[in-house]
Amino acid sequence: MIRIGMLGFGTVGRSVYDLLQAHTESFPDMQIVSVAVRQITEQRMALYPTVQFTTNPDTIVTASDIDVVIEVMGGQTETYRYLRRALHSGKHVITANKDLIATYGETLQKIASAHQLTLLYGASVAGGIPILDALTNLLPGDETMQVGGIINGTSNFILTQMSDAAMNYDDALALAQRMGIAEANPVNDVAGFDARYKLAILAKTAFGANVVTTQIPTQGIQEINATLLDDAKRLGYVIKPLAVARRTGQELAMTVGPHLVPAAHLLGKIDNVQNAVQVKTRNIQDLVFTGPGAGAKPTASAVLSDLAIVHDIVCGRQLVHEKPSLQQPVIIGTAAG
Ligand code: NDP
Ligand code: HSE
Repeated sequence: MIRIGMLGFGTVGRSVYDLLQAHTESFPDMQIVSVAVRQITEQRMALYPTVQFTTNPDTIVTASDIDVVIEVMGGQTETYRYLRRALHSGKHVITANKDLIATYGETLQKIASAHQLTLLYGASVAGGIPILDALTNLLPGDETMQVGGIINGTSNFILTQMSDAAMNYDDALALAQRMGIAEANPVNDVAGFDARYKLAILAKTAFGANVVTTQIPTQGIQEINATLLDDAKRLGYVIKPLAVARRTGQELAMTVGPHLVPAAHLLGKIDNVQNAVQVKTRNIQDLVFTGPGAGAKPTASAVLSDLAIVHDIVCGRQLVHEKPSLQQPVIIGTAAG
């Protein structure tokens, strides 16, 4: 049995737990045994009787009977210390925390490698879109020249609601928070910091570049108002929160901020929580990955993909993903739409 300790049990953490429970056939020998939270309530203990709750993440990251730590609590400096300790204590680490990976990913990776452990963070960029996997694995022999697009769901949601539903900025942000897609501190979303962390991770994965996030020119969406959105619409454009890194030789041009995009362009049609990551390579020219970039299930699903990788490493064999098979399908007609 692979024993998992989880730091955080909010939007993403609860969904990781629920998805794992719902797919025990795919993860038969993995169990979340302990979880760190800020508050242990009666209700929590009643709803999750097999989980050992603690308010001290240290007890999980140093526990001798934990094999894997999943970090879904957020935060930077303190969380970095916990994950360092987890790796030094021999645990594989999975995290959805872009702030942490953009800032301390390189150091954590070195510690993980020195201990022959795995550090995975597939959920940290674009939620349910397996973009880091794609950048790492899909382009052998090719070279990525540009990567980026819409990678903050909250900003895209707010601008879509302001533009298409005449909602005001504050109400749209409040709704994003209720939906569980905004960061604990939503300034990270609307000021462009979240997208900037993700862009740094994309640049590291695509170009091997170590980027100091504060050096990326960054603008938020706070100044965008209904008049600007209407003017753009009249001219056949929409305003989208973009984050792009483009390589020319040894130089990297990077930017985060709201941009005018033709309404008919693919990126102009990516609305609400949807993300889109465009990748331009020497050989393929243009690939676009779209999907839900935030939210409980898409993010938890990305965490479970990483967990499957850790499983294979720990057990030395691949998890068998039983897919329902259609041995003698009945073809019923066209599948348009
Ligand atoms: P939430 O705020 O919903 O949950 C945070 C959880 O961590 C809560 O359970 C909280 O405890 C616990 N926690 C926070 N600080 C501490 C601490 N110091 N000690 C112990 N427990 C602590 O966050 P999300 O689930 O939305 O996000 C978690 C991480 O995933 C973040 O790094 C975020 O950036 C990332 N992420 C989120 C996505 C989303 O759509 N929400 C998408 C992709 C990544 P308590 O419940 O008691 O308050
Ligand atoms: N707050 C983030 C967003 C969550 O809105 O995109 C997903 O990383």
